[in-house]
Amino acid sequence: MTGLLSGRTAVVTGGAQGLGRAIAERFVAEGARVVVGDVDVAAAESCAAALGSALAVRCDVTSEEDVAALVDAAVTTYGGLDVMVNNAGVLRDATMRKMSLDDFRLVLDTHVQGTWLGTRAAAAVMREAGTGSIVNMSSISGKVGNVGQTNYSAAKAAVVGLTKAAAKEVAHAGVRVNAIQPGLIRTPMTEAMREDIWQQRLREIPMQRFGEPSEVAAVALFLASDLASYLTGNGVGGHRRPAHVTTTREPPARPAGRITAAGRGVPAGAAAGSAACRPPRSARSR
Ligand SMILES: NC(=O)c1ccc[n+]([C@@H]2O[C@H](COP(=O)([O-])OP(=O)(O)OC[C@H]3O[C@@H](n4cnc5c(N)ncnc54)[C@H](O)[C@@H]3O)[C@@H](O)[C@H]2O)c1
Repeated sequence: MTGLLSGRTAVVTGGAQGLGRAIAERFVAEGARVVVGDVDVAAAESCAAALGSALAVRCDVTSEEDVAALVDAAVTTYGGLDVMVNNAGVLRDATMRKMSLDDFRLVLDTHVQGTWLGTRAAAAVMREAGTGSIVNMSSISGKVGNVGQTNYSAAKAAVVGLTKAAAKEVAHAGVRVNAIQPGLIRTPMTEAMREDIWQQRLREIPMQRFGEPSEVAAVALFLASDLASYLTGNGVGGHRRPAHVTTTREPPARPAGRITAAGRGVPAGAAAGSAACRPPRSARSR
């Protein structure tokens, strides 16, 4: 098979579903062998079986041992590591008044420590080979800050800083490190969000629509491939208006109810999102 990643080996953390799965699918379609690392090993195994040219490994990205074993699995099974996508993530949204320290720490540990461990382990292999691309999943939340996401916004901003610093450390060895900062994408992570939050976010998106996992996978492919051979230390990201700026044209109407991963409307209230995510009164009235 010929493709942009033909003959290369990639690891994708959190690859069992959502953006990670879309990235793994696109990489395999472009000729890569993919190691799907996920804390949900059953989901990772079913994903790897569906992908074909892929291996599933149980990995909690907050564990140094697990991340080392994940990278070792790629090297042992496929003979090297060309691409590392540090994508695994969790949300524990709540306003600061209600957020527990445990939920703050869990989100920081998963995104920041997890990305650092993955970047460090991958860079150690790649610098020996003199080539490689590391792609870290940040978020627009780290750029603009979201109500109810002091933990997540902090973590995703940190992922960009980590990426820029790591890029400078390993550029001389032929290793590139970049980040993606997606806007709002339909995945299992976001499907439980309340309908009014979806609508509020939609009003802030200049393109007036949500993104699809395949569109983030295309950016990951670009950064992973030789198309981005002179790009390192960058955050490729979404764009959002400040919440107080209104659109000149109303966004297209959507059926009442929240959006599911399949894009279908589910009756509002069927599975209300976290009440803690509710924006302050001033924002809700806009
Ligand atoms: N969906 C969006 O709108 C959006 C926007 C910007 C950034 N992101 C980021 O993209 C990444 C993927 O998000 P998603 O929407 O696909 O989420 P998701 O919940 O659909 O998938 C996340 C995956 O990560 C795995 N995971 C969670 N904790 C883990 C851990 N400690 N170790 C290993 N695996 C773990 C889960 O099992 C799951 O398979 C996350 O880092 C998220 O913050 C998502």
